[in-house]
Amino acid sequence: MTSTIHRREWLRQSSLAALGFGISLRSMANEERLPRNFGSEKGLINLGSNENPYGIAPAAKDAIIAMIGQANRYQFNVPVLQSFRKDLATYYGVSANQVLVTAGSGEALALLARHFNQGSLVTATPTFGILPNTAKRIGTRVVEIPLTEDKVHDLSKMLGAIGKDTKMVYICNPANPTATIIPSAVLKRFCEEASRKAVVVIDEAYIDFLNPPENESMMALPAGNPNIIVLRTFSKIHGMAGLRLGFTVAHPDVANDLGSSHFQGSEICVSNLTMAAALASMKDEGHRRDCKQKNEAARNFTLQELQKLHFRCIPSYTNFMFFNLGNYPGDFAQDMLKKNFLLRSSSYSDGKWARVSIGTMDEMQEFIKVMKESKQS
Ligand SMILES: Cc1ncc(COP(=O)(O)O)c(C=O)c1O
Repeated sequence: MTSTIHRREWLRQSSLAALGFGISLRSMANEERLPRNFGSEKGLINLGSNENPYGIAPAAKDAIIAMIGQANRYQFNVPVLQSFRKDLATYYGVSANQVLVTAGSGEALALLARHFNQGSLVTATPTFGILPNTAKRIGTRVVEIPLTEDKVHDLSKMLGAIGKDTKMVYICNPANPTATIIPSAVLKRFCEEASRKAVVVIDEAYIDFLNPPENESMMALPAGNPNIIVLRTFSKIHGMAGLRLGFTVAHPDVANDLGSSHFQGSEICVSNLTMAAALASMKDEGHRRDCKQKNEAARNFTLQELQKLHFRCIPSYTNFMFFNLGNYPGDFAQDMLKKNFLLRSSSYSDGKWARVSIGTMDEMQEFIKVMKESKQS
């Protein structure tokens, strides 16, 4: 007990120290900048990275244990993994030659920024940071179109912003950090129109949290259109953030090109254990259904309670929520960290906003308890 408290205090102090050394929680959609040396199991309630709090599927755990004896082998020497890309593609209804496997979709986002670096990038602001930030770092001009008043992508302004030098358009649907969606029929029309002029990248990291008809993927489009690319990750509904697996779906020619810039198209950047877990996880629909239901219940609870406290909340379709902090006087994320909650907050032209990941019901009850106490003090 004493050592738990001690460790908890040490972790709290080190994260605060990290803040003092300039690791800020302010850039909400920029996962690169978050202090990372602790987790909820160590005492802090981590609502900062939109992880799945329920863990990996039980079948995935068993698959990792069964694969451990093959950890000394390269993936191509393990018979059951030789068809990994094909199995993944079959599950998602695309061809194997359209798929590029990466260690998380973040890796693919950085790869895309580097691959399509001749010309500018059009994206929303705020949005998920890896692609636009990598683009900026290598000198690509990034045109950032503010979300609408309701925190939804402003598609007509984005279309209007596509110019002669635009090489790529990035859309995260559902959106991070605002948790809003673009209806699939509308997004499909946008993809078709915008892809006449530029490469359109649709990041579907959170699509598994949606219900029909909003959960219709854009994954069918790239087969017939080299200018549409779709990204998926196993980090969210599959709960495999630490195992690192993402994949890109593109036209076969584009996938081949991207693959040559990235490990010769081989999935060798991903560990045998991860691939074994993914194969098992894809088959475990029950675990995903369970995670989705629990997320929905905890999200509804959080929404209702925050609304009772008079926070303006943006309706969430994901495993995180974006809410306005009104005239909160300080740095909300930093203040919450002192209370053992890791989340994000940021200042925009229309005020201060916070993004909280949806944890377990117990975690969200704790979170609401602290929010109530803060309102009263
Ligand atoms: C919108 C979005 N895309 C991609 C990622 C990257 O996920 P990963 O690299 O874990 O697959 C994240 C992670 O939070 C995300 O929010």
